Amino acid sequence: MAGPTKEFWEERFASGNTPWDRGASSPQLALWLRAGLLKPCRILVPGCGSGYEVVDLALAGFEVTGLDYSDEAISRTHRNLEKAGVDATLVQADVLAWEPDRAFDAVYEQTCLCALYPDQWREYADRLHRWLAPGGKLFALFMQWLREGAAEGLIQGPPYHCDINAMRALFAEPRWAWGKPPYPRTEHPAGLAELAVVLARR
Ligand SMILES: C[S@@+](CC[C@H](N)C(=O)[O-])C[C@H]1O[C@@H](n2cnc3c(N)ncnc32)[C@H](O)[C@@H]1O
Repeated sequence: MAGPTKEFWEERFASGNTPWDRGASSPQLALWLRAGLLKPCRILVPGCGSGYEVVDLALAGFEVTGLDYSDEAISRTHRNLEKAGVDATLVQADVLAWEPDRAFDAVYEQTCLCALYPDQWREYADRLHRWLAPGGKLFALFMQWLREGAAEGLIQGPPYHCDINAMRALFAEPRWAWGKPPYPRTEHPAGLAELAVVLARR
């Protein structure tokens, strides 16, 4: 199977080559919390990396599950939870193999989709749908990084560009309900940007 492996991510953490890592939660999380769009509930953070969002959601009173297959990501999240003095459930597993024993009210999806090779997106999107209870919400940050090679059909990443048309096809009506664009754009210190979209699972 093409695309990054667990070993790829372990090496990125070990070598400190983690440009996605802000050292803190995405500012979009605080905006969703302040706007009351994201309220304490049972929430999953797939591909949680260092776990800043896991910690901040736990601090805000959510029942959080952080999911990642990397040893280092799970250790970092564990350490960050300890430092903050809060609890969350941590699961070390492949997002393309794991199944929860109970559905979630919400999923916070930040740079897990764009970390997967596009051939795996359909499988992952189906799982996100299955993992959410009917009426549950997907809080998604869709990575915007269109590379030059795309003009010639090259698939370059990670992160893989999450084109809005591809996202509409992947999270299509009527399984998902979309709000009207334009969507807020979250800039990243590493020069990346994400589109913040809230989808309701039907
Ligand atoms: C680009 S990092 C993003 C981390 C975090 N979401 C953030 O924004 O800081 C991608 C994360 O997804 C994890 N990951 C990638 N593919 C995965 C898979 N198939 N199953 C579980 N975790 C995966 C990696 O180990 C890594 O921690």
